[in-house]
Amino acid sequence: MPQISNLCKPMDHCNNFVMTNILVDPFERRISYLRLSVTDRCDFRCVYCMSENMTFLPKKDLLTLEELDKLSTAFINLGVKKLRITGGEPLVRRDIMSFFDSVGRHLDSGKLEELTVTTNGSQLEKHAKNLYLAGVRRVNISLDTLNEEKFATITRWGRLPQVLRGIDAAQNAGLKVKINVVALKDFNDSELFEIMDWCATRGMGLTFIEVMPMGDIGNENRLDQYWSLKDLKATISQRFNVTDLNESTGGPARYFRVEETGQKIGLITPLSHNFCESCNRVRVTCTGEIFTCLGQEGKSDLRAPLRNSSNPEILNNAIRKAIGLKPKGHDFNYSRTTVKGQMTRHMSHTGG
Ligand code: GTP
Ligand code: 5AD
Ligand code: SF4
Repeated sequence: MPQISNLCKPMDHCNNFVMTNILVDPFERRISYLRLSVTDRCDFRCVYCMSENMTFLPKKDLLTLEELDKLSTAFINLGVKKLRITGGEPLVRRDIMSFFDSVGRHLDSGKLEELTVTTNGSQLEKHAKNLYLAGVRRVNISLDTLNEEKFATITRWGRLPQVLRGIDAAQNAGLKVKINVVALKDFNDSELFEIMDWCATRGMGLTFIEVMPMGDIGNENRLDQYWSLKDLKATISQRFNVTDLNESTGGPARYFRVEETGQKIGLITPLSHNFCESCNRVRVTCTGEIFTCLGQEGKSDLRAPLRNSSNPEILNNAIRKAIGLKPKGHDFNYSRTTVKGQMTRHMSHTGG
């Protein structure tokens, strides 16, 4: 059970218990990574993420850019070192660059170690340079296939050439690019070596993700989609020698190196190998809800404490309290016939 003493240290008194300016959850995990979703909207409709007809939040419910800044600043003051901006598609939010410009000041002060973004790449042609100027050095771009037709099928509304131009723009602007590929059976399994080659040739990182049971996705079936990354790695090992690496980017991926080429590949394996015990992150949505686990329903409201008080400790305490309820992990599980741990929430709600 949550031990409030985990959040405490002698000296800084706050009400009955003593508060530190770091965030630690009930399982002694230090929370240093905030994933902040700035919009639930997206210009794509990826089949594993959204149904075709989505109802999005009314604009009036969104936190303003100033409020997103204030919230990020509160987390940074509580020891968050890595801030990842997500969506939906974060770069479709109007005027989002002014938010990056502003929150980038925490990099200058040294309080924040990394400001980064996960994007579908569609708007990078327009924004890559300004992201760099705001202090972003690395972007993760979701791209599941190199085939134009298949790309249009999987994203429903996306067009591959636009994303490829976005990737060019990102690299030309000096941003390091990592490609996130959701591993999908009978969809991109046949492209495994082509995608590896393409990333290696362009000097981009590559991470594969197991598909998670998030949200109702209409006629699609998760079990039909699921391709275990254990199998994916085994396929690579048949052709190459691979060595597991101990490095981390502070995210959930575990990396291995392909000895023959030197390429590093990341695997995000919520299904085949649970990584919750080392979880260091929480998510905040564009309406100011904090979700302390991607795979659980539990959430707390930060919008009211953000809006209703000029005393920063009220917001800080709301954040500490929410993190004091962080669960041990998700319950995702696929057997041959059933999906367990299914979430009603779509991935786009919390930004993955
Ligand atoms: P790096 O900083 O490059 O390590 O990125 P990251 O993996 O932290 O962020 P990214 O947005 O690229 O995450 C890729 C995907 O990993 C997300 O969209 C999710 O699908 C998945 N993911 C990230 N964090 C978690 C987590 O805590 N639990 C689960 N189950 N999946 C996660
Ligand atoms: N399972 C795994 N990854 C998903 N993403 C979206 N929906 C799912 C899902 N159900 C990924 C996207 C992107 C990131 C934001 O989340 O491909 O990389
Ligand atoms: Fe949009 Fe990303 Fe969801 Fe695709 S996975 S619909 S790009 S939010």
